[in-house]
Amino acid sequence: MQKPVFAANWKMHYGPQETRTYLLKFLASYPPHDDRTIIFFPSAASLAVAGFALRDRPDILLGVQNVHWEEKGAFTGETSVLMARDCGATVALVGHSERRQLFGETDEMTARKCATIARAGLTPLLCVGERLDEHERGITQSIVMRQLKTGVSRLEKSQLATVLVAYEPVWAIGTGKTAKPEDATVVHAAIRRYFREALAGQTDSVRVLYGGSVNAENAAELVAAPEIDGLLVGGASLDVDVWTRIVGT
Ligand code: PGA
Repeated sequence: MQKPVFAANWKMHYGPQETRTYLLKFLASYPPHDDRTIIFFPSAASLAVAGFALRDRPDILLGVQNVHWEEKGAFTGETSVLMARDCGATVALVGHSERRQLFGETDEMTARKCATIARAGLTPLLCVGERLDEHERGITQSIVMRQLKTGVSRLEKSQLATVLVAYEPVWAIGTGKTAKPEDATVVHAAIRRYFREALAGQTDSVRVLYGGSVNAENAAELVAAPEIDGLLVGGASLDVDVWTRIVGT
């Protein structure tokens, strides 16, 4: 059995000082566990501080919320995967719905980012998910599979085998509405089927997380559902006590 993954996406919250305070409190109350993986995604401005705070805790991973598809260059305001790696990041979010909807990130951009991230030796965590109108039209699976297939299309097979995916229905993000575990399971199963076929059976390390209004009350039920390998948590991860409860489930 693979370990469940608990990933905290802090979005545009917490600068360096707040990050340090949060992580010191969390580390004091959360001893190392080897039966689960925790990943923090702080803002780019707080990555270095977070990397330093987590330096003695290899059981906890650091991730960057977004990177450019080029490793360096004239891209004002962007963060490079090499800079994130230098701060200690080993994972990078790609294609979060806020990036897609608010910043025009296309499937092709996610593909280029995934390739750059993997080439730099980090693990891409590719987010996929349908909007409410797509959900209501019953086209969830085709949307998710299009995002998934294009997103990983530039990866080599060996890189594909270690990818993390988060299924996050857009209508469930920050809304208090969560997908029913049985509905999420169907999508997760389709995602896993894709990897099984693409990798000819070697899917052991591909992890499929669920995200969208996860909180301390629903986390246990979601993570216990078949096919759900972990959780990607936004709002509820900002409160260190709530997050400590979620990762303890
Ligand atoms: P939420 O966000 O938990 O606040 O719904 C999840 C996400 O955007 O990753």
